[in-house]
Amino acid sequence: MPKGDSIGPEFAEKELHCLQDILKKEKLSGNHLEIGTGYGGTLLEMINCYQRESRPHFTVVDPMSYFPNQYNIVKDYLSSNGVTPSTVDFRTAKSYTAFKTAENNKERYDFILIDGVHKLRYVAQDLRWTRLLNVGGILCLHDYQVRTRGVMKAADNFLRKHNNYSKVALAGSLLVIRKHAESKTIEANSIDLFWASIMSFALQLENSIKKRISRLTF
Ligand SMILES: C[S@@+](CC[C@H](N)C(=O)[O-])C[C@H]1O[C@@H](n2cnc3c(N)ncnc32)[C@H](O)[C@@H]1O
Repeated sequence: MPKGDSIGPEFAEKELHCLQDILKKEKLSGNHLEIGTGYGGTLLEMINCYQRESRPHFTVVDPMSYFPNQYNIVKDYLSSNGVTPSTVDFRTAKSYTAFKTAENNKERYDFILIDGVHKLRYVAQDLRWTRLLNVGGILCLHDYQVRTRGVMKAADNFLRKHNNYSKVALAGSLLVIRKHAESKTIEANSIDLFWASIMSFALQLENSIKKRISRLTF
């Protein structure tokens, strides 16, 4: 379910400011990607960080089943805020499937925001997109916080394995990472994904045991 009931970014104010500061400072000109767009609120804020003439290409990957009529609602939201929806490359698909096509097409990105499903195994899958991130490019993960431990675990494991990526900032639950060199080993390989599915299952089990115990104690 979407957080809150109003249309707009699902980012807290300080997360949004951090994201806007980074985009304005970095002036990245290559493709920008958002995985998971919700109402398109953060998408609009990112687009508005750029002048219309020098705006980079934006791609959105989302199955568009977060709430009824999501795709049209996102497009209407952009239009009513002065952005022509056809200027955004919407891919109505799960990140897992869309990635295969993007990799086959040898796409490259300067900026990637991961904000889809927050379970460990899904974030690990989303991290495969970093294979397409240019050196010097920025990767952001939203909901990097204890409440959504899957995101934290996936990101921490990724940073531990790839020392060519380093943390740039953490504002609220927005983690900002830079890729500062080419990777020596492939990002989010099949072993990482296998590890992530086992850990995801373990986290789910732990959560359900905790819930049962708390029900018994109250
Ligand atoms: C938390 S919302 C994104 C909020 C948005 N980034 C913002 O800040 O306003 C999560 C989004 O992820 C999308 N989603 C769910 N499963 C997905 C998947 N497998 N791949 C990509 N996106 C997915 C949902 O449809 C939803 O739009």
